[in-house]
Amino acid sequence: MGESESRRVVVARRGGPEVLEVVTENMPEPGPGEVRIKSEAAGVSSYEVMLRGHWFPGVKPPYTPGEDVVGLVDKLGEGVTGLEVGQRVASWTFGDAGCYSEYVCTKADRAVSVPQGLESTDAVALVVNYLTASLALHKTAAVKSGERMLAHGAAGGVGSALVHLGVQADAEVFGTASAHNRNLVESMGATPIDYRNDDFVARIRDLTGDGVDAVFDIIGGGRQLWRSAQSLRKGGRLVMLGMAGAVKGGFKIIPPTMAVVGLVKLMPNGKTVPLGPGMEKYPAENMDWYRDSLSEFFDLAVSGKMRPVIAEEFPLLEASRAHEFMERGGHAGKVVLVTES
Ligand SMILES: NC(=O)c1ccc[n+]([C@@H]2O[C@H](COP(=O)([O-])OP(=O)(O)OC[C@H]3O[C@@H](n4cnc5c(N)ncnc54)[C@H](OP(=O)(O)O)[C@@H]3O)[C@@H](O)[C@H]2O)c1
Repeated sequence: MGESESRRVVVARRGGPEVLEVVTENMPEPGPGEVRIKSEAAGVSSYEVMLRGHWFPGVKPPYTPGEDVVGLVDKLGEGVTGLEVGQRVASWTFGDAGCYSEYVCTKADRAVSVPQGLESTDAVALVVNYLTASLALHKTAAVKSGERMLAHGAAGGVGSALVHLGVQADAEVFGTASAHNRNLVESMGATPIDYRNDDFVARIRDLTGDGVDAVFDIIGGGRQLWRSAQSLRKGGRLVMLGMAGAVKGGFKIIPPTMAVVGLVKLMPNGKTVPLGPGMEKYPAENMDWYRDSLSEFFDLAVSGKMRPVIAEEFPLLEASRAHEFMERGGHAGKVVLVTES
């Protein structure tokens, strides 16, 4: 491969992990106001696994997946100030994807300095999952100190971020997870609930009496969401964050999910389903919030107060193995693609 070339992973068509192909092409050039990042680590999320295999509005094949990246600034586009070539930064591309690449061009105001003492793999795990969790926790549900919250999938990427940030906000946190992740959830500061063997609604009632103030549901599906609503006390907020259940069930779980959301909204029991600002829309007017939040996560990680959980690392060019791994399930934390220098 020549010096003016780079490689990226492409979803060539919808299908299994084998549709992830590596293409070599000319090095991308940063446009005005952009920087080029030489990737060291990129995150993998279950959203990307779902999108690869199922129909979903938005990107259509061929496209390069990936929404978070950490690496070295490699080239500055016209008009960029405040960043230097060689500086290590983290960035995100919500909605635009493109981070399963050796070189990523991104808007310069989305490049946040990564402090020394933080591995690129840890830093990348703090980007999309923690920004998503923080937006849901602080803006959508507005969880206050002393309130009780339930995070589903507490050992997963977004779920573990919700647990960490809930604990940082002095909430009382409960988290559903498989039995083998019990110790992990406990070590993050939450009370684990084994969702496979226990009835989580009954456990929440046993543990709290009248329920929790907020439930964060990343699983989706009619029955799941209805039961999440049953875990709330009066005045509680049900926040829908994802549909990890679609990895196995496909997007046919969307209609019953939406039907239950409508039902819970209509019932006169004081429970609400707040719709927070979307991850793609919010940044335009609130870039400082994103940048400040990310810097804060990095500081908390460096100080050892909030270490992200890394499930497994795979070479970038073997992204298909990372997708196979995520589809098998049973992992804990964030799956990361690393780029060999
Ligand atoms: N709204 C946004 O902006 C945004 C951003 C990022 C992600 N998301 C969404 O968040 C969801 C999760 O993504 P992720 O990357 O965190 O996935 P992940 O790392 O694969 O985590 C999913 C977790 O869910 C657990 N789980 C599966 N079924 C469960 C159930 N019935 N009850 C409780 N836990 C269950 C799994 O545990 P076991 O393996 O033990 O079963 C796993 O730990 C996806 O739908 C994604 O699209 C949304």
